[in-house]
Formats: sequence, C-alpha cells, structure tokens
Amino acid sequence: MDIRVNIEGTDLNMEEVKALRKDASAALDRLWSGDMDMTGWVKAPVEQDEKSLEYLLDVADIIRSEAELMVVIGIGGSYMGAKSAIEALPRFEHGIEVKFLGINFCTDYYREIIEEVKRKNTILCVVSKSGNTMEIQAALEVLRPIMQQKYGSVEEASKRIVAVTDENKGRIREEANEMGYTTFPVPGNIGGRYSMMTPAGLLPMAVAGIDVRELLRGAQTAASSPLWDADAMDYAIARYMLHENCGKAVDVTCFNHSRMTFFGEWMKQLFGESEGKEGKGLWPATLQFSTDLHSMGQFLQEGSRIFFETMLVIDGCDDEIVIPAGNFKGMTMKQMNDIMVQGVIRAHRSAGNPIIEIHVPELTPFYFGQLVYFMETSCAITAMLMGVDPFNQPGVESYKSEMRKLCGME
Ligand code: PA5
Repeated sequence: MDIRVNIEGTDLNMEEVKALRKDASAALDRLWSGDMDMTGWVKAPVEQDEKSLEYLLDVADIIRSEAELMVVIGIGGSYMGAKSAIEALPRFEHGIEVKFLGINFCTDYYREIIEEVKRKNTILCVVSKSGNTMEIQAALEVLRPIMQQKYGSVEEASKRIVAVTDENKGRIREEANEMGYTTFPVPGNIGGRYSMMTPAGLLPMAVAGIDVRELLRGAQTAASSPLWDADAMDYAIARYMLHENCGKAVDVTCFNHSRMTFFGEWMKQLFGESEGKEGKGLWPATLQFSTDLHSMGQFLQEGSRIFFETMLVIDGCDDEIVIPAGNFKGMTMKQMNDIMVQGVIRAHRSAGNPIIEIHVPELTPFYFGQLVYFMETSCAITAMLMGVDPFNQPGVESYKSEMRKLCGME
C-alpha cells in the first residue's frame, strides 16, 4: 500500500502501540474471516466480478451518450461515496454532470434540481440499499411524474430510471421490477457507508467520467497488503489510544487539498456512524487548510484540549504555478502548500496537539481507491478496539422511526 502514516507526533508510548498491534491484527483477521455480518466490502476488491463490472461500464457508456445529466437519488452511504470521488478526482472529458437529490427536504434545493431536470436530458439513478428510506421515496415521487411528463409516457420515463438497491426486497426493488427499470444490486452483506466500491458508488462515478477500474485497482492493492502495513495499523491504534487513554473526544482531520472537502464529509459519516454508539466514539471533524487556519486555527492553537489532529496530506501535484513577483518570487504554489503543512505541524505541536500524519502520493483514482479502503479498514478496527459494532446504526434508525410516526406511517 502506498498510503503512509506517521504517528510520531502523537507522543503516544510506542511500546503500548506495539502491544496493541496484536489486538488490531485479531480485529483485522475477524474482518477477513467471513464470520462477521456486513463485512462483504472487505474481500470485494479482490473478488471483483469482471462480467458485472463490464455490464456496469456499458450501461454508464450508454447513459453518457444519451443524457446530459444524471440525478442520483440517495442519502448517507448511498450518495456520499460517489460525490466525494466525483469532487476529488480528475474526470474523462466524456463524463456528464451528476447531481444529487434526496439528501434533504429543502424546498429551494428541490426547485433547483427540478428546473435542471426540466431543461436537460436526464437519467435518474435511485440508490437505496433498503429501498425504504423516506428521503428517497419522497424524491422519487416528485421526480417520476416530471420525467413521465417530459418524456411523454410512463414507459419512456422508465427507460430513463436506473435503480441500485437490494436484490430481493424493499419498495424500490418492487417498483423497479414492476416498471422494468435497469437495476444493479447493493450486496446484502455491505452496509451503506462501506458501499462506495459497489454499484452504489461506481455507477455515478463512471457516468461522471471517473476511471473506476483504476479506483478498484487501488482498493485491491490496499486489500492485498500483507496483513496490513504496520503504519496503517497504527492509524487505527493511535486513534483508539488517543480516545481511550488520553481522553480526546474529537478527531480533526485537516486537508491540504481543496478537492478533498467532500471526502471529509464521507469520512465523517464512516467514522461517526461506525464508532458513535454506547457512549463511545470520536467526534469526526474536518478542516480545510489553509482556509480554516484563519478561523479555526485559533481554536487548534489555544482552545480547549478536547481534540487531536489528523493531517491528511496529498503529497504530489503538478508544480506549474510560479509566483512571479514579491516576497515569494520564484516559489511555486506547491512549495507554498508544503511549507504551510510544515508550519502548521510545528505550530500545533508546540501547542501540545497530538498529530497523526497520513500521506497520499497523489490525487488519482488509484490512490483514492487505496485511501477509501484504508479508511474503511482503519475505522472498523478502531471501532472493534473500542468494543462497538462498526456496522450497525441503531441511532439513525431511531430518527427514521420517529419521523415515520409523525408522518402517520407507523
Ligand atoms: O450507512 C448507512 O447505512 C446509512 O447512511 C444509509 O446509507 C442511509 O441511511 C440510506 O439508506 P438506504 O441506502 O437504505 O436508503
């Protein structure tokens, strides 16, 4: 694996870290054993079915040639992976625009998307593992008649709706079977926030023009790393120890690359929903540097000591923008960015902040695929060290149930 981790800046006792590697390895073994529920994502990159992938890429090709816009209807794990990749990664020129609906109940946001659907040649892609999520059902009910009116009939609209959902159950599956939508499965043993490498993430990414083969190759490389590189294991252990032994409540992940902002949102869901239960878990926060150094930088330097920092650094990028004059004459923007990272680490270390560094060679689909798999595995290991189930979300279910009651559905 090419993702490198440095935990020297945490001041954790390395003997204690090493001692925990045994528990972390046992957690990793359990993930790979196949005995644990909802761990289908662990082996998925190395067991990728070529035929299914080819079919997905063919459908993506057809969509790109026939439509200008794909509206993905999905929420939580059913949209964040795709959006984070689309915002972060370079796209082929033939990629089309991808927008997301069903991510809120905001009237103004709905209005914007509806206007776009009316104006542009559109494909809907409904992504819902359960097929029963309220935001998704509501969004489909709003857009389906608009599509039917726009394309002149129920049949013509149905040709332009794709469903990514459970193979056998849920309302979206029932509707897809009834209306004859093109469908893709979300495997039963993979939960929403671990589903980026399933059709839930891959189809919208491919339509947007991302090289999903490279992304999968990256995930495969990470999954094939020998019992996980020690330093990758240390990320999971360091987060656990900073929470458990040092009483830190917040993990602030700081990015040095502007296109990683939504990846931060994906991380928040992954870590927050996997760890935050039974009174445990780190609150996942994210910041964008250098922007946030001019606001939250104050808190990081002098505020209450409830947090540690994870510096997620994209090391490589082109070095073409040179500052032509002034104090920084001759320096490139990349050099300035590197110096910023070093300056931040020095300043925040002098304030006593524990800092984990994660280094990614470049922002390409290959390394992004590695990073996603790295985060999913680390998160699951930390949650298991904390003694919570990384793959359930009883708290999310309880809001859904209260809302259903208020809507008179239960
Ligand atoms: O990670 C999760 O399980 C959740 O965030 C779900 O992805 C989210 O609630 C949407 O659920 P569904 O895909 O069943 O519509």
